[in-house]
Amino acid sequence: MVKPEDPNRVLIFDTTLRDGEQSPGISLNTQEKLEIAQQLARLGVDVIEAGFPITSPGDFEAVQEIARNVEGPVIAGLARTHVADIDAAWNAVKDAPRPRIHTFISTSDIHIEHQLQTTRDDVKGQARAAVAHAKQYVDDVEFSPMDATRADVEFTAEVCQIAIDEGATTINIPDTVGYTMPLEFAAYLERLYELAPALRGAVLSVHCHDDLGLAVANSFAGLQAGARQVECAVNGIGERAGNASLEEIVMLLHTRESAVGLRTGVVTREIARTSRLVSRLTGYPVQPNKAVVGRNAFAHESGIHQDGVLKERTTYEIMDATTVGLDANSIVLGKHSGRHALQQALSELGLEVSGQALNTAFKRFKEIADKKKQVTAMDLEALVTDELREEIAGYQLDWFDVEASTRRPPHARVGVRSPDGEELVGSFTGDGPVDAIFRAINAATGVDARLREFRVDAVTAGQDALGETSVVLEVGGTAPQAEPVVGAGQGVSTDILEAGARAYVRALSNAIRRRTVAAEAEAAMAAEPEAVPAP
Ligand code: KIV
Ligand code: ZN
Repeated sequence: MVKPEDPNRVLIFDTTLRDGEQSPGISLNTQEKLEIAQQLARLGVDVIEAGFPITSPGDFEAVQEIARNVEGPVIAGLARTHVADIDAAWNAVKDAPRPRIHTFISTSDIHIEHQLQTTRDDVKGQARAAVAHAKQYVDDVEFSPMDATRADVEFTAEVCQIAIDEGATTINIPDTVGYTMPLEFAAYLERLYELAPALRGAVLSVHCHDDLGLAVANSFAGLQAGARQVECAVNGIGERAGNASLEEIVMLLHTRESAVGLRTGVVTREIARTSRLVSRLTGYPVQPNKAVVGRNAFAHESGIHQDGVLKERTTYEIMDATTVGLDANSIVLGKHSGRHALQQALSELGLEVSGQALNTAFKRFKEIADKKKQVTAMDLEALVTDELREEIAGYQLDWFDVEASTRRPPHARVGVRSPDGEELVGSFTGDGPVDAIFRAINAATGVDARLREFRVDAVTAGQDALGETSVVLEVGGTAPQAEPVVGAGQGVSTDILEAGARAYVRALSNAIRRRTVAAEAEAAMAAEPEAVPAP
């Protein structure tokens, strides 16, 4: 990607689908990744890192689908310095109008000695060969010296210089383990500029992890030191404590533009919706007090604050909720609305639904509208995402009966459709109605899943609000000693038992799919010894 003409324009490189997807328990399938990528394009990010294609056939397919179908942003695929990784990344992104290969190798001695078990010279050689190989395919090549903030700055500068000499157009400096501090990071980047002046001809990027809660502060320090690309993830998801949160860095630059003088191309009104979509599909809830997108980010509890805001919003608000799209709760449809009105309302939300998908959405909409007088934009969003899950889930919930009483142990019977279309029935007596349903699903599917987390939220306010449930569970691995595999799922309904049952069935399907993917990756690893797990 060429450097933007405007020296104050900051490129937003979204890694929700790559680093974000590496968060424990997240397993998005191709359709879900595509849905998120399409929303990221609406959000106006500059680059979407769609995945790490060598890691599994599923990852490859998802990156390829995104490259073929998502218009606007550059689509990047991650690759180690190995030829096979770079070939896989290229094959996955090559159909994008603007493809990028992002290759990386560690420059810290800790990684070089203990993980790579090689020498600094070898790292230089690998970086050179990787960028040169990627460059044969595409002009837009990004190089990252992994764990740079714990590495010798002189050596890192040497490796970056090699990457630039071979044609890398973006140099990304990762704080891989979230170790650095803002002033230290800025000084590190300034030193890199001195040691490798050619960096000024490339785009300097930063990629900060949040282990000490400094990812956004460090990214901001990087921008002030001259970086013009930030790698970040929606809701700050990512490896361990996560990546810099996209919405926080974007709104920081937006809100303080007059002081800082930097801007992004993000359509801020799409932020809240993107956050909800990512939370729903990943099963990762957003903490209520999370900056910018938390439920309470614009709520005022103290009387003094409420009084101030009623008199003049800016007394206690530095941002307007509408700027991040938090006003999308107007009533859009009622129970007499027809299919066309539904299609129109969905289209206004940026969701183009037709054919069978529209029929299914309409059926669900009518069921909900019968129980709930007013169906809001947020309800529709939740419903459509729920339907999307329905189509891709391996198992599907057909029906359930549950008897709940304080005088007898609750008993549940469920009907679950298997991936081959067979109806499986199971029953169980549990500690409570939810427990009974979940165990009855285990009995029906024959999968001994163990519940780890169960949450219930309301999509909107009010007694008739849709309930949204999240389930995280684990199933045993395929081999006897294998680690358990975790799966997450969500469900939406006006009945929380039904929402819970849907979420459980989806989490179970996701865990099984993850187990299959892990077994495939293990088989691939046995055939290709260089294939190691994601960074
Ligand atoms: O954290 C990290 O170092 C990474 C690199 C692959 C950029 O994710
Ligand atoms: Zn990372």
